[in-house]
Amino acid sequence: MENIIFYFSGTGNSYSIAKGLEKEIGDTIVVPLLRAKDYKVEEYGIVGFVFPVYYTHVPEIVIRAIEGIRFRKDQLVFALATYGGSWGYALKDIREALSDKEIILQEYKIKTPGNYILEYSAFPRSYQEGILKKAERKISKIASSILESKRTGYIKANLLARMFHKRSDKQRSKFSELGSEFFASDKCLNCYQCVKLCPTDNITLSEGILVWGSKCAQCMACIQWCPQKAVSHPLVKKSRKNYTNPKVTISQRGDLVLKEN
Ligand SMILES: Cc1cc2nc3c(=O)[nH]c(=O)nc-3n(C[C@H](O)[C@H](O)[C@H](O)COP(=O)(O)O)c2cc1C
Repeated sequence: MENIIFYFSGTGNSYSIAKGLEKEIGDTIVVPLLRAKDYKVEEYGIVGFVFPVYYTHVPEIVIRAIEGIRFRKDQLVFALATYGGSWGYALKDIREALSDKEIILQEYKIKTPGNYILEYSAFPRSYQEGILKKAERKISKIASSILESKRTGYIKANLLARMFHKRSDKQRSKFSELGSEFFASDKCLNCYQCVKLCPTDNITLSEGILVWGSKCAQCMACIQWCPQKAVSHPLVKKSRKNYTNPKVTISQRGDLVLKEN
């Protein structure tokens, strides 16, 4: 029976890990989570979800997409959170969202380079490489655990997330407001890659100018992948460096794909 892994990914970390698992597990397809309604999930073998952590929680868009999925009784489902330093309540969110489904749920997390350019620059290359190497090793271990249907237990919130949960909640409540402040500078060549990448169709063209609306999920795809570095935000200092996963690129159609070696 073929397996299916769904991913949500702004800058390629979660996508790259989903592809790594596909290779290790075999007989698996990797699909954007937002296209889940096109698939009969209950007809697949193992079902996986790979997604980033946003302010110590699962992005709302991920929860909404997962809630709509129908599973088979006793289907093996795994949730894997990618995070920069504090995974927080992410796995608890998924556990709760799936609590009424009669499935077997495995929980995993993998540390990846942080991508939140509104707060910080990309980490130095050597540091990124170190984190990504460790992530690679973890992919193999997780794939074995998935194939053996091991019981993983609950992943509880880390101390840092518990200590700063009020600040995180406040930041999450600003996503829509912050999202509407992105803009394209005069370096923009109207390739509209940002428009194609946006998971919420939040970027539109108004009188020849790109405008960001109020539906932003804060995935950072528009700003991080812009080939001209034309997308910016009032919170982003000029010296800040972009981050996208080094193994991933964007296809002509505007989909995340692995780079060819
Ligand atoms: C809006 C936003 C909030 C984030 N909050 C957290 C966080 O609370 N804890 C953490 O460890 N990483 C946080 N990150 C970093 C991402 O979870 C991490 O880089 C992730 O791997 C990105 O995945 P992607 O490349 O698939 O989009 C945040 C990133 C963004 C864009």
